[in-house]
Amino acid sequence: MKPSTCGATNQIFWFKAMPNGGIAYNPLYYKFYYLNQEQAKKFLASHKCKIVKPKVPNPFWLCFFDLSYKCNLKCVHCHNDYGKVNELTFDEKINVIKQILDLGVLHVSFGGGEPTLYPHLIKVLKYASKGATCSFVTNGCFINERLCKRLKNLVSYVGVSLDGFRETHAKMRRADIFDKTVNAIKLLLKHGIPVRVTSTPTKINYKELPEVGKFVINKLKATWKLMVYIPEGGRADELCLSDEEEKWLYDQVSKLGKEKTDYYFCIPCPAGKSIFSIYANGDVSPCGFSPHLISGNVLEKPLIDILRYGTFFRVLRTVKSEKCISTNYWRGSNEFDFEIPM
Ligand SMILES: C[S@@+](CC[C@H](N)C(=O)[O-])C[C@H]1O[C@@H](n2cnc3c(N)ncnc32)[C@H](O)[C@@H]1O
Ligand code: SF4
Repeated sequence: MKPSTCGATNQIFWFKAMPNGGIAYNPLYYKFYYLNQEQAKKFLASHKCKIVKPKVPNPFWLCFFDLSYKCNLKCVHCHNDYGKVNELTFDEKINVIKQILDLGVLHVSFGGGEPTLYPHLIKVLKYASKGATCSFVTNGCFINERLCKRLKNLVSYVGVSLDGFRETHAKMRRADIFDKTVNAIKLLLKHGIPVRVTSTPTKINYKELPEVGKFVINKLKATWKLMVYIPEGGRADELCLSDEEEKWLYDQVSKLGKEKTDYYFCIPCPAGKSIFSIYANGDVSPCGFSPHLISGNVLEKPLIDILRYGTFFRVLRTVKSEKCISTNYWRGSNEFDFEIPM
């Protein structure tokens, strides 16, 4: 899709110059475009852009940051079982965000745990949104009028997880929260906050997901993103889709229209090349689903050093990631198809 065809005419893109061109980002549809020098020049001349000027030159434009692992639910598929890690304090988090902004990251996506249970969510968003666009992903249980009012101008969108219709959502979330989730989506939209509804396919819900996608796009008027399930934990094998099921789902979803849908994992995978993740204890990994790729901790080293010299960042910069290393790893190969430098 060309950048000019997606989004309202008045859309303000964020733009980060790179040695060989630049990255343009449409915060409304959460779409990133790599542009060569000629394309970048044309793009800047024809679109409204907020130019991001990194203090430290680097290729990273997207950061996932887990705020805290506290959660009100215990979803059947959740990979959030990092236990009682020593989470960064508020001041440490702000320090990390400062470093993220210095890198010229265009978007910070906050996760967890349940971000709305983090008591300083608004303060964190206020700080981060000065230099990047922000979002967070939520189960929707604590979205209310007051929070929506406070979120205005702090987030470019909110991700809300919906894994099925009433019964299926309850099976995945181990709680009957369908109404809360749908009301959260409606409330955010009522306040003019764009919503990206997120579904994670497992054996429990995948057959229903194409209809869920239609419901989200046509009835709720939100955009829809399909995650790829990372089979961690005790029920991993039981929940994990087979290749055939995965393909069926992908084919169905592809029919829904590209502007409003998105498959979470893009190939070649950008993890470690232009995106990275920070766990709530400060561990840094190319991918938030890959604790096995942790390459340093922000309490021990400056973030930029981890991104430059951390083992897996060094590796992933040099290989073309044709497969999702995270899915591949968790699905049982437990091997890397690249050499790890010592
Ligand atoms: C970890 S949750 C954190 C935010 C919030 N608590 C929520 O449920 O939306 C972020 C997203 O990751 C998804 N998720 C959790 N475990 C996963 C797994 N093993 N594989 C893929 N996605 C997963 C959740 O369904 C949710 O959409
Ligand atoms: S609400 Fe989110 S973080 Fe909490 S258990 Fe469910 S998926 Fe995991």
